[in-house]
Amino acid sequence: MLQTSQGQSGSAHVVVLGNEKGGSGKSTTALHIAVALLKAGQRVATIDLDSRQQSFTHYINNRSAWARRTGLHLELPTHYCIKLGQTLQIDENEKAEFQQFMEAVCSVEHAFDFIVVDTPGNDSYLMRLAHSMADTLVTPINDSFLDFDVLGTVDPATYAVTGESHYAEMVRDVRRKRRQVDGAMTDWIVVRNRLSMLGSRNKQLVADGLKELSLRLGFRAIDGFAERVVYREFFPRGLTALDDIDEATLGTRPNLGHVTAREEVTSLLRQLKLPLDERGRRRAANRAEWFAQVDKPLELHDIISA
Ligand SMILES: Nc1ncnc2c1ncn2[C@@H]1O[C@H](COP(=O)(O)OP(=O)(O)O)[C@@H](O)[C@H]1O
Ligand SMILES: [Mg+2]
Repeated sequence: MLQTSQGQSGSAHVVVLGNEKGGSGKSTTALHIAVALLKAGQRVATIDLDSRQQSFTHYINNRSAWARRTGLHLELPTHYCIKLGQTLQIDENEKAEFQQFMEAVCSVEHAFDFIVVDTPGNDSYLMRLAHSMADTLVTPINDSFLDFDVLGTVDPATYAVTGESHYAEMVRDVRRKRRQVDGAMTDWIVVRNRLSMLGSRNKQLVADGLKELSLRLGFRAIDGFAERVVYREFFPRGLTALDDIDEATLGTRPNLGHVTAREEVTSLLRQLKLPLDERGRRRAANRAEWFAQVDKPLELHDIISA
């Protein structure tokens, strides 16, 4: 049985990216979270459940290819992509998908600190299963009422929240079940993505609506990434805003967008409050020190004390 609750030694903390809607930034955010954790020295496995689009898998493959091409060191997670069942029987397919998912989870849960799971933008058995395993559920939403609709409905005249949507009810349901099974609380965070850099009435109304819903549904609403071209340009090279901001890494001239995006991602990670352990932080510090030393000639006392 998977033990996922925070603080249990020897079991990975599961971060799930979920939203019943495509194009909200799940795969982009998933890679940013995975790379941020790797850079913090954590051992990270990643699972792509969106077997139709496989954006997360392609993003990671692109990263690996870019590292080979440039000869640079880019951190990579241990990745699994779950293949869709191919038979005509739905139950057979679900069984095969479940089997692959559990095998992936079981092979990494004790050897890794984090498992980052990207899910498809539609309700399915596997998507629900992933949600029920989440220690941290991150739901990116685009900053418009069209995307807000995945969580709740609003009155057309006053914009007051009038109800909860299908996805919100599904999350409530899996959180309740999870709590009954092992007493664990899922930390649910709704992240506003692709924020307009201009203040607008719509932006404020969405923020107000989210605040109201967050109390009703029990999530934390936080601001994520602004709408920036750099996020779209990262994908073909598998890069993130956390990678080095220089021409060799980016393959293009760095600009202010890269610097600001990095600040946004760092701020998002801080707000997610993921349980980074001391061991991981030490690993990251040692590695940084090692990289800093690589170019320098060894001194005698280094060799003697080694
Ligand atoms: N903050 C952002 N600014 C600009 N483009 C973004 C941002 N976040 C995501 N995108 C783009 O939006 C599209 C959908 O993002 P993606 O991460 O694939 O969403 P999902 O996995 O929810 O379908 C992609 O083209 C991606 O590059
Ligand atoms: Mg996706």
